[in-house]
Amino acid sequence: MTGLMALRSHPSTNQDRVGLLVERLFEARRLSLELASPLSVEDMTVQAMEDASPTKWHLAHSTWFFETFVLKKHLEGYQPFDETFNYCFNSYYESQGARQPRPQRGLLTRPSVERVLSYRAHVDRALGKLLDQTLTPDSEVLRLVETGVNHEQQHQELLLTDILALFAAHPLRPAYRARPHTDHPHELDPMSWIEFPGGIHLIGDQGDGFAFDNERPRHEALIHPFRLGDRLVTNAEWLDFIADGGYRKASLWLADGWTAINRNDWRAPLYWESRDEESFAMSLEGLKPVERAAPVVHVSYYEADAFARWAGARLPTEFEWEVAAQGVPTTGNTLSSRALRPLPVDQPSNGLPHQMFGDVWEWTQSAYLPYPGYRPQEGALGEYTGKFTVSQHVLRGASFATPDNHSRLSYRNFFYPHQRWQFMGLRLASEITPR
Ligand SMILES: [Fe+2]
Repeated sequence: MTGLMALRSHPSTNQDRVGLLVERLFEARRLSLELASPLSVEDMTVQAMEDASPTKWHLAHSTWFFETFVLKKHLEGYQPFDETFNYCFNSYYESQGARQPRPQRGLLTRPSVERVLSYRAHVDRALGKLLDQTLTPDSEVLRLVETGVNHEQQHQELLLTDILALFAAHPLRPAYRARPHTDHPHELDPMSWIEFPGGIHLIGDQGDGFAFDNERPRHEALIHPFRLGDRLVTNAEWLDFIADGGYRKASLWLADGWTAINRNDWRAPLYWESRDEESFAMSLEGLKPVERAAPVVHVSYYEADAFARWAGARLPTEFEWEVAAQGVPTTGNTLSSRALRPLPVDQPSNGLPHQMFGDVWEWTQSAYLPYPGYRPQEGALGEYTGKFTVSQHVLRGASFATPDNHSRLSYRNFFYPHQRWQFMGLRLASEITPR
């Protein structure tokens, strides 16, 4: 069947699918600019540390992704905006050639922010032209554009993560946004456990929407009966851990973790500061007193693991997390709520775990590995996730900075165990019957 015949057979389905994707694409492109809008040109240019990228780079790189993997291959007659941008804005794609080293992205004072915005407009126009063309429902172009939208959403979260790193390094601790209302800190009831039965469970992408290749194939996993915390670990609980000498007891720590906290002199989560014996934390809303009832954020895997041991528990595996999240709505305190910080649980437990999607990414004890039978997607995007399956841990859920339509049951985020600048926290798990 030709593309045109397929289109005639299912005109509304195809038009709907293309129309929806066009809407999502341009909404995502607009949102990136909205997130950058409180920032000055100088804010957008500087890089706070090796792991973080400048806002200007995020805006350009997400555009480069569409230009490189969609437009150059699929839009006849497409004229690249500037051939030198491939070097500047390629992230890690060996197939696309040499690139600016990540730790030196902040040295790219050229091109200017203004020119990067022109680049975005150029690519947006070309994407509009491409999507105006007739496309079949299973079109490769649609798949690539959808991947590009999801990729840009990942960079939207990173843009906020990296801006916080930048502002936290500034002596005046500027706020990305003023806190819109007065806080009313309160204490929460103790965490409760929710029990889950063991058995063979299906894990991974169910095939009913977009997913990255690392979420496939769907496969069976054997899970023993387990308990999961009905909410995230809070700052109040973390303060207790600190007060009990948690950062000074070697017996609580993995060997690499003990080395890391002593080498770096970590005695609290990233961005915490003590002033007049009160704990403050740098946030997107500036330096604020630590909210006792809010989930702890900016802890490394090492710290999460040590806390869990101190609490007589452990971190969940990613499979346990996925089993526990089945049936939980994927809505929560994500970017669309515009809270821009993790919020306390505001309702009693109803048998389902709270805060599974939103607030903070949740460390799991699972190493980031390919699922059995994993195959990277074809072509250059085969480099997207698969080559990172070494030495990292999986985080599940979503954070307060995760864009809409970017949270799902099977989503696998991953970071190195020492990293803590992402919006990452934890939830406890334990065995029901010690084995
Ligand atoms: Fe990227």
